[in-house]
Amino acid sequence: MKIAIVGATGLVGREIIRICEELLPHEATYTLFASSNSAGTKLKVNEKVCEVKELKEENIETYDISLFSAGGERSKKFAKSFLNKGSYVVDNSSAFRMEEEVPLVVYGINEDKISKETKLISNPNCTTMGLVMVLKPLHEKYKLEKIVPTAYQAVSGSGRAAVESLKNEEKLGEELKPNYRDGFYTRPISRNVIPLAGNLTENGYSDEEMKFVNESRKILDIKSLIVEPSNARVGVETGHGVFCSATFQKEVDVKEAIDVLNSFNGVQYWEETLPTPLDAEGSNDVLVGRMRKGLSSNKILNFWSVSDNLLKGAALNAVQIASYIVQND
Ligand SMILES: NC(=O)c1ccc[n+]([C@@H]2O[C@H](COP(=O)([O-])OP(=O)(O)OC[C@H]3O[C@@H](n4cnc5c(N)ncnc54)[C@H](OP(=O)(O)O)[C@@H]3O)[C@@H](O)[C@H]2O)c1
Repeated sequence: MKIAIVGATGLVGREIIRICEELLPHEATYTLFASSNSAGTKLKVNEKVCEVKELKEENIETYDISLFSAGGERSKKFAKSFLNKGSYVVDNSSAFRMEEEVPLVVYGINEDKISKETKLISNPNCTTMGLVMVLKPLHEKYKLEKIVPTAYQAVSGSGRAAVESLKNEEKLGEELKPNYRDGFYTRPISRNVIPLAGNLTENGYSDEEMKFVNESRKILDIKSLIVEPSNARVGVETGHGVFCSATFQKEVDVKEAIDVLNSFNGVQYWEETLPTPLDAEGSNDVLVGRMRKGLSSNKILNFWSVSDNLLKGAALNAVQIASYIVQND
């Protein structure tokens, strides 16, 4: 079996390599792609040294599965070439997520959307992915109508350059002032919260907030789902947190809801300890805490969830999809 990893040198790509070693057959062979800057870099996969190739047409061969995490522009430009050569493509970017014929797959929720006719598969946005893992089992039980999610997005969600910038800002300590403009974001992020994640769109919401709206509806298959999102960027390295108020058609019960979550693979409810981004870092599971019944209605659940944006939010889900393809193709 031949696997291509596009963007292998990035934050997500390096996790993809590690998880491929765990979840895919050991005899798989790997081709790693990145930009011309990384061509020739040597990375190990399953103890074998692989030399990174520049992503360009003449280097693309035939693969069984190609895992893309090199930004939307690369996906738009090169995914077709991989597909034309017969490969499945699992894409981490937002390039194809809302195309009707492209399944937007969260393993554990809707991997049954994958077939031989859908060789291009989109991996959802990292913040949305963590939240829908919690909403899915609650929706099955109580029928979801509306969510009001407030996200606390970590810096590694913006890639390697953002993490380097955070580390530089951290070194400045108290010298870091509000007028600092040399960082990755428009405002300093160390010791700070920026009340905007992503870029503003015409309706005043950011593209990250609109991903909550559109991707939750598509993954959960609830076209009428009402979503009122607010996304902030916080000075945390890894682990996206979300406070969510969810309204259902049926009356809810907190203890029962917690049992429902604990029975769902990939989700853990933490009763004793508050789950934080540091707890989520390196965890394959989405962690949930502070479940409360709404103050204004018996049909509302308010809770906190947090997940590793590089794992279930990206690399883990992509490789779970690849593993599903291997078992079902
Ligand atoms: N970080 C997350 O939590 C997260 C979650 C979900 C989805 N994603 C998506 O995953 C993708 C990668 O994110 P990341 O966080 O891993 O970013 P990153 O750390 O900045 O890595 C980017 C990767 O893309 C490669 N790349 C950049 N320009 C390229 C070009 N012109 N040709 C070929 N390769 C190129 C880089 O190669 P070089 O090393 O050679 O520059 C590197 O391997 C993005 O589409 C992002 O939206 C990220």
